[in-house]
Parts: sequence; C-alpha cells; structure tokens
Amino acid sequence: MRIDIITIFPKMFEAVLNESIIKRAQRKGKVKIFVHNLRDYSLDKHRKVDDRPFGGGSGMVMKPEPIFRAVESILGKDYKKIQGNSSKTKVILLSPQGKILNHQLVKKLAKNRHLILICGHYEGVDERVRRYLIDEEISIGDYILTGGELPAMVLIDSVIRFIPGVLGDKKSLKIESFEYNLLEYPQYTRPANFRGMKVPKILLSGDHKRIKEYREKEALKLTLNKRPDLLLGKGD
Ligand SMILES: C[S@@+](CC[C@H](N)C(=O)[O-])C[C@H]1O[C@@H](n2cnc3c(N)ncnc32)[C@H](O)[C@@H]1O
Repeated sequence: MRIDIITIFPKMFEAVLNESIIKRAQRKGKVKIFVHNLRDYSLDKHRKVDDRPFGGGSGMVMKPEPIFRAVESILGKDYKKIQGNSSKTKVILLSPQGKILNHQLVKKLAKNRHLILICGHYEGVDERVRRYLIDEEISIGDYILTGGELPAMVLIDSVIRFIPGVLGDKKSLKIESFEYNLLEYPQYTRPANFRGMKVPKILLSGDHKRIKEYREKEALKLTLNKRPDLLLGKGD
C-alpha cells in the first residue's frame, strides 16, 4: 500500500512513522508513506494556504488551490479524473463531519492500494475540496481537534495492521475486539499470583478446549456489560 499525507505540519509525523510497527511495515516494504508539505503547493509568494471566509465569520479557511495541486501532483492527473476514478485509490479528507472510523471501515480502507490523506486546519477546508476532489470524508469521533494530523495518524496505525504481513501473528487480528462484534476476552500474564490476585485457574490448566470455551463466554459477558450495542450489530 502507498499512503500520501498532505499537511502543513509534516514534522508531526516524524516520531509516529519512525517507531514500532509502522516503522517495521515500511522497512519490510509493506507500506510506503510520503509526507507532503501543503505549503510547497501554494502559488503565493509567502506560501500561504489559508484565507478569510467569503460571507464573513471567524477564523480562516484552507484555500482550495494548494490542496488540489498537491493531490494532482501525487496522482499526476487533473482533478476531473481524480474523484471516484479508481476503486483502489481513495482521496480522504480527515474531518469531524465525516463517517466515523470504526473496525469495519478500517478493514475496508486496508483493501485499497493507495490512500491520500488531507489534513485540515483552522476552520476547515474550502467546500470545493469536499465536493470535487475527495472520495471520502472520515472522522475519528464526535469531537473537534485542532488539525487533521492526529486523525491521519490514527487512521494509518489502524489500517496498516490489516495489510498482510505487517503483524507477526495473523491470529491476533482474528481474536481482537470488534471482530465478530465482540470485545476481546480478558488477558493475563505471569506471575500467576500477583500480590494475592490470582489468574483464573482454567488458564493454567493446559486444557485448550475448555480454555477456548471459557474465553468465548468471558468475551460475551464483557461485551454484554460494556458494549451491548455491538451484540445488536450496531457497532458496524
Ligand atoms: C478545528 S477543525 C475544523 C472544524 C470545522 N470548523 C467544523 O466545525 O466542522 C480543523 C481540522 O481538524 C481536523 N479534525 C478536527 N476534528 C476532527 C475529527 N474528529 N476527525 C477528523 N478530523 C478532525 C479536520 O481536518 C479539520 O478540517
């Protein structure tokens, strides 16, 4: 997969992209990530990327031109050929007005070959970006952040886990929370007795069949308690 990020704060990505599983995924050639400074696409001599809103109002709005130019330069195409043009390339605007990112959407996004992520700032982006350039608008939750960089990082981190070969153990994807609309069962590690707090005996029994049954029951109980909406299929 290839991921391009368009941002006015490229440095914000340095730490996140150069650590842990994201770093390893790039090293293994499973994902190529490019960070573009939006200001490089501004035609303004001061590299300005925002302006006052037409009709008045507070704050600044991100101008369409640098964003269109950035996406066109990445894809080597005029914008009229970009939107909805390829089922394997998605131009995504991170936005609090978008579809909420959840497990199912992450899995769907992971099937693309190429994602272009546009990080907004200020009061957001000129509406023509939303209307004529992007394929999807994605939110990471019903709250407002100062910029689209953290949402882009959340999206990348969650999506790359589903690229085949990124995680060492494929099984961990299958047993994780939200697969089968369930939360994951409780996990324990050594020591078996920590300050008098003991690990459930069944997990020390070596009886794999019973352990599996116990975990399934616990996952169900936990989901019923914490997220009953998932059991009704409302977490999709
Ligand atoms: C301060 S917000 C703009 C909010 C906009 N004025 C509104 O009310 O919808 C600036 C940028 O941060 C990003 N952003 C903020 N909250 C977000 C969220 N929950 N999910 C995804 N992106 C978000 C978007 O890229 C947005 O353009």
